[in-house]
Amino acid sequence: MAKTVLVTGGAGYIGSHTVLQLLLAGFKAVVVDNLENSSEVAIKRVAELAGEFGKNIIFHKIDIRDKEALEKVFASTTFDAVIHFAGLKAVGESVHKPLLYYNNNIIGTINLLEVMSAHGCKKLVFSSSATVYGWPKEVPCTEEFDLSATNPYGRTKLFIEEICRDIHISDPDWSIILLRYFNPVGAHPSGHIGEDPRGFPNNLMPFVQQVAVGRRPALTVFGNDYSTKDGTGVRDYIHVVDLSDGHISALQKLFDGSEIGCEVYNLGTGKGTSVLEMVAAFEKASGKEIPLVIAGRRPGDAEIVYASTAKAEKELHWKAKYGIEEMCRDQWNWASMNPWGYGCPDPAD
Ligand code: NAD
Ligand code: UD1
Repeated sequence: MAKTVLVTGGAGYIGSHTVLQLLLAGFKAVVVDNLENSSEVAIKRVAELAGEFGKNIIFHKIDIRDKEALEKVFASTTFDAVIHFAGLKAVGESVHKPLLYYNNNIIGTINLLEVMSAHGCKKLVFSSSATVYGWPKEVPCTEEFDLSATNPYGRTKLFIEEICRDIHISDPDWSIILLRYFNPVGAHPSGHIGEDPRGFPNNLMPFVQQVAVGRRPALTVFGNDYSTKDGTGVRDYIHVVDLSDGHISALQKLFDGSEIGCEVYNLGTGKGTSVLEMVAAFEKASGKEIPLVIAGRRPGDAEIVYASTAKAEKELHWKAKYGIEEMCRDQWNWASMNPWGYGCPDPAD
């Protein structure tokens, strides 16, 4: 019997790619999303890309803080597990609107956990972030490092990780996998789904992509005086399809009968790439020049962050396959086919 997975935030960037991988792996997926930072078009395209498996997706436009609505979803379907992506993620916005972030991310998660518990669904995969490593004292970051947060967004991730540890201590029936993502970039190789941020893009590659298609004049490079190979910040960029596959591996671990408790895994490639290296790789993939404006450091930015991937490789039997060439190739493919994101027609339609 196919297992059924509830995916919160499944219309979003990482969620949509993961739902596609879930369907292709033979799972049934029920997506709940309030479409605050996404489009229902993504769900439609995922269903198309999944071919014969496209019939195995159901979408509900629901806010996870609406307990009654969540209750109804759980009353109508028995879930084998939940993958919880739903949340707000703009660091700068979280500094200005901390209560919005605590309300949406933390209250939303508590609601979800309460409804799961009431319905006896106690297997969870949660989207955490490398942001919980703060400015790491050394690299690569291993899962045992001390944790910290420099902004309300990061604190919601830290708090939710702690909440998950506490509920497992209180009730060992829970099996929870916390996945700390490094820097997800790229898009599905088909070019039909990808990242489509609302408003001003905060992250590097969505910004680069918008410069390449002429929506913005230049990329501002935040600092070229770091102690790195070329002075710009170094990060661990990971192809979103690799990241999505990491969720399938996590689910398999939840279902394989082993005693998991509440376990945490990094999802990264283990390789550090500078801003200028990433821009050069994108220019090569796209054939477009990305004009640069060098500016000061962005507050809260770390110098070098990349993952130790040993634990995920050993225990989840997962390893990223793609390098920055493929990430940039697929990012450009998506951007050139959809220069205005989901706001413009799919060339395949
Ligand atoms: P995204 O904004 O594209 O997706 C999040 C989805 O959740 C959106 O579709 C949004 O509409 C939905 N959502 C938000 N609040 C909701 C609510 N209260 N009820 C229902 N739906 C709600 O972001 P993403 O990049 O796909 O990130 C997914 C998760 O991964 C987030 O929790 C994010 O914090 C985490 N994460 C992302 C990154 C990254 O760089 N993209 C890195 C680390 C962690
Ligand atoms: C940022 C967030 C982090 C969050 C992650 C994923 C901050 C301080 N950190 O991480 O909490 O989990 O996104 O959402 O916001 N850069 C530029 N110009 C730009 C954008 C970025 O030079 O316009 C540089 C940054 O300084 C950094 C690198 O590119 O060196 C990557 O930045 P970004 O994509 O925002 O990711 P993180 O800073 O790693």
